[in-house]
Amino acid sequence: MIQKTYVMIKPDAVARGLVGRIVGRVEAVGLTIDRMELGSVTLEQASANYAEHQGKPFYDGLVAYITSGPVVKMQISGEEAVPVMRKLMGATNPKDAAPGTIRGDFGLSLDANIIHGSDSPESAERELSIFFG
Ligand code: RTP
Ligand code: MG
Repeated sequence: MIQKTYVMIKPDAVARGLVGRIVGRVEAVGLTIDRMELGSVTLEQASANYAEHQGKPFYDGLVAYITSGPVVKMQISGEEAVPVMRKLMGATNPKDAAPGTIRGDFGLSLDANIIHGSDSPESAERELSIFFG
């Protein structure tokens, strides 16, 4: 089934100049980039996007981090785009992410873990409206 997903290259990866390589992997697997924008995340967008984590010990750091510098926001579509993107990204903690995945190859820290991708088609709808209106 054709799906849409929201993907965001996080501030650490933008600052480290990894955008081209990450976008290249999305293109190489055959997904389509419908929309792509460099910009910052507002406090309102961060708290809406991470509402499920409100109250957890890492929440404040997560919001501070995602609003700390420019990110690349993307709408990506294609066959099974949600799980395909999650597979390309790898495990949440880069230390557990397999080599060959984006987090496994480029990340070291659980907080600064390079990339975000929606975890379901429902989350994708919600996140795309938060970031693209
Ligand atoms: P994301 O939402 O960023 O795509 O990551 P995810 O689905 O793989 O992981 P999720 O459970 O949604 O967590 C969101 C972000 O919170 C940070 N985190 N820290 N210290 C901790 O225990 C902890 N757990 C999660 C990570 O940076 C993760 O990307
Ligand atoms: Mg998540």
